[in-house]
Amino acid sequence: MANSKYEYVKSYGVEDEIFLPNLIVVRIDGCDFQRFAEMHEFEKPNDEVALNLMNSSAVSVSEEFPDIVFSYGFSDEYSFVFKKTSKFHQRRASKVESIIVSFFSSVYVMKWREFFPHKELRYPPSFCAKVISCGAIYVLQSYLLWRQNDCHTNNLCNTCLWELIIKGGKTESEALELLKVIDVVKHNENGSPVRRLRKKLRIVHSKNIAGISFWNKHKCLRNELGSFSKDIAKVEPDFLKSFQFEKRLMPSTWIVIRIDGCHFHRFSDVHEFVKPNDEQALKLMNSCAVAVVKEFQDTVFAYGVSDEYSFVLKKDSQFYQRRASKIVSVMVSLFTSMYTMKWKDFFPERDLKYPPYFDGRAVCYPSSEILRDYLAWRQVDCHINNQYNTCFWQLVKSGKSKSEAQNFLKGTLAGDKDKLLKQFGIDYSKLPVMFRQGSSTFWDKGDIIMINNNKPSDENSQNKVVIEHCNIIESSFWCAHPTILNA
Ligand code: GTP
Ligand code: MG
Repeated sequence: MANSKYEYVKSYGVEDEIFLPNLIVVRIDGCDFQRFAEMHEFEKPNDEVALNLMNSSAVSVSEEFPDIVFSYGFSDEYSFVFKKTSKFHQRRASKVESIIVSFFSSVYVMKWREFFPHKELRYPPSFCAKVISCGAIYVLQSYLLWRQNDCHTNNLCNTCLWELIIKGGKTESEALELLKVIDVVKHNENGSPVRRLRKKLRIVHSKNIAGISFWNKHKCLRNELGSFSKDIAKVEPDFLKSFQFEKRLMPSTWIVIRIDGCHFHRFSDVHEFVKPNDEQALKLMNSCAVAVVKEFQDTVFAYGVSDEYSFVLKKDSQFYQRRASKIVSVMVSLFTSMYTMKWKDFFPERDLKYPPYFDGRAVCYPSSEILRDYLAWRQVDCHINNQYNTCFWQLVKSGKSKSEAQNFLKGTLAGDKDKLLKQFGIDYSKLPVMFRQGSSTFWDKGDIIMINNNKPSDENSQNKVVIEHCNIIESSFWCAHPTILNA
């Protein structure tokens, strides 16, 4: 598809690949779970049901992402260890951590009813996540020792462990079990189911997971991660420093957190979204964005289209001391929990068939001009995609196959598409503005009144989050709302 003059903003993204041979661990941790536990009247000190919900959600994560070979959790945290050869999302840290935390949040909300049938989920839980990269197996061993030492003070240890089912000398019942775990676990790009052997998940409790007697006994751990060579008694302070290290985003820059639905092509098909635009689905996205903007008050502006949303944090934001993983993961997690929780409000007749999830990343833009170019890039993209998709689905409706429609549109310019739509009796400019221009979500501070040199009084200043479908490429929008970028 056509490029726009705003594409240069892509170069501000930084690479964050975790290079081989580093082992990837993702740790997730509940945000303000003390409050969450109190609000939901969890039993003190341990609520077994809540812990089971955590475990069950962790099991779902391991089932969904087979590169995870080992996981370990207690209280409101879980660590997921990826096999050493993993190529999961090209080993890009922000993708890896955001996807895991998003999927976990989604499952946690979806499973809530099953575990707490008589307790209403009063607000969406959120988790933060970070990648810990371990340069060698003994660093991973130290990490596990560190986490298990913390666990002992909490006294709530659980371990999830993948073990390959295909071993020599199976009994008949094991063979039957083997049949049970052959399942449709993924869909390829064309949406066709891919069948593969699932590994068998085992949950074990209170083992010394950092000890060689536990670790080396499990063949799959040795194969996928490596063996421990000796027992260790304490964690090296330098290792601890690396486990706790958090990268911070550049000061005095606009932080944009962009989240994007994972495999929403399939998700929208399975959930029968209207093509090319489903008003309810877009409204659900907007509603989650409003919740995020309200919750994280440094968010000055958000722009959404299709399955993506960009959240702009003010330039001098000190949110989580600008720690990238914290900011991205907590926003993605809250957005996902909200999406799952609110699903029924927007699709009362449709059940969620599986957990939706999103990835996220943070990019810093050094000036408001470049930030505006970033937003313009997203809005131009919205227009280009919407025009293309509207043509595409009209052609399909008229009897062309999908590949015929694709070939027909190859090389056409915006004007050609406009003409084509006219032939179908569609005036593009009359299509709903939300489809054409996307959605802008921001605090309405009564800026329009300020433009007339009247400082807004408290009554005038509405101070509420609004959703508009305006042109954010032209300067008139920004002139009418001067406080957004002067925040
Ligand atoms: P990844 O983001 O790479 O995981 O792939 P994706 O499948 O999510 O695709 P991408 O983010 O590039 O594009 C979003 C996709 O979501 C679109 O191509 C559509 O298939 C689908 N989608 C988003 N909004 C709507 C909608 O309102 N209606 C329908 N029918 N589909 C939508
Ligand atoms: Mg997507």
